Amino acid sequence: MKRALITGVTGQDGSYLTELLLEKGYEVHGIIRRTTSFKNEWLDEIQDSPRFKGLPFFLHYGDLTDAQGMIHLMRKIKPTEVYNLAAQSHVRMSFDIPEYTGDVTGLGTLRILDAILEAGGETRFYQASSSEMFGQVQEIPQRETTPFYPRSPYGCAKVFAHWITINYREAYHMHASSGILFNHESPRRGEAFVTRKVTRAIARIVSGKQKELYLGNLEAKRDWGFAKDYVEAMWLMLQQPKGDDYVIAMGETHSVKEFLDLAFGAVGKDWQEFVKIDPNNFRRTEVDILIGDPAKAREKLGWKPKHTFKDLVQMMVKEDLKREGLLPEKYMRSG
Ligand code: NAP
Ligand code: GDD
Repeated sequence: MKRALITGVTGQDGSYLTELLLEKGYEVHGIIRRTTSFKNEWLDEIQDSPRFKGLPFFLHYGDLTDAQGMIHLMRKIKPTEVYNLAAQSHVRMSFDIPEYTGDVTGLGTLRILDAILEAGGETRFYQASSSEMFGQVQEIPQRETTPFYPRSPYGCAKVFAHWITINYREAYHMHASSGILFNHESPRRGEAFVTRKVTRAIARIVSGKQKELYLGNLEAKRDWGFAKDYVEAMWLMLQQPKGDDYVIAMGETHSVKEFLDLAFGAVGKDWQEFVKIDPNNFRRTEVDILIGDPAKAREKLGWKPKHTFKDLVQMMVKEDLKREGLLPEKYMRSG
């Protein structure tokens, strides 16, 4: 039986990847951080779901800042595959906590790679690289060979993690791959990211709990896809004969304004009546446009997304309405 270890298992991608690997017959181990009150909606959902009941899913306490702890877990679990999804992943916050972001998002990756070597080095490794590494883009669209120009402490930390993964692949012949994933969202997206902030606010506006929504730069453009489609690409990378790097993207870009149009439009509302600008939501240095070219992933992995941008927006609005206890069919326009 294949045994996977997932760091960042409580996050958006961690939850979808856990489901995917359990469905594929893996024994799945996840690393969680100690918190005063441990509650994670998605993990609770997985553990309580009849679909996954009785399947081998185990949680272990650990932290990417704790090298010895990582070595201990690697020796104990002896995973065949490690998916390193843990990170301080919020770009604007990385300006407030740059050193911590570098420690977890950058050095954390090195600690995992070293722990794999300490435990024998046979484990296949996936690194969650990011389109934020392209930052001030040097080429449109961005592909695996596009030079990096990160624009935040988060982007810089991801560049280190990306290159150390390549270095360990070359120096120690590890089966190590980086997925350079463009923005991917879902109903499980953290509430501080713009898409979920918007869809959650829409549900609260419809239910009368919220009147205004404070945002930042509405002109920024992102290549947004659905997280469940993207975790499939992570798994595909580790099934290849050799480690490599792949861009995972939809190949189209939309502004925050376009997201607002579609999301508010889904409940028949005009976002301009609700959205206000708060300068605190701007970044010191912004990434203005991201658009990826997923040709290599399509050709070599056979990967292609199953959901469109429009599907994604509709799905997120619908699920947030449900979470507010509202009936989507009553409030959502069809199409
Ligand atoms: P997310 O929802 O923010 O999840 C981050 C995960 O990392 C959480 O499980 C978090 O645990 C864990 N974590 C944070 N600090 C840690 C530490 N010191 N030790 C151990 N675990 C720690 O992120 P996501 O959207 O699922 O993204 C997954 C990965 O892909 C991240 O590395 C992200 O940077 C990268 N990425 C994401 C996107 C995207 O659009 N979603 C695109 C490209 C790359 P807690 O629950 O305890 O906080
Ligand atoms: N979060 C947030 N909050 N972003 C806002 C807001 C707001 O109120 N208003 C406008 N934006 C703009 C941001 O300035 C940015 O240009 C865009 O919306 C997207 O912001 P986020 O949703 O926070 O995502 P991100 O693109 O910065 O980072 C995400 O994607 C990366 C991949 O490109 C994160 O998931 C990163 O971890 C990931 O690597």
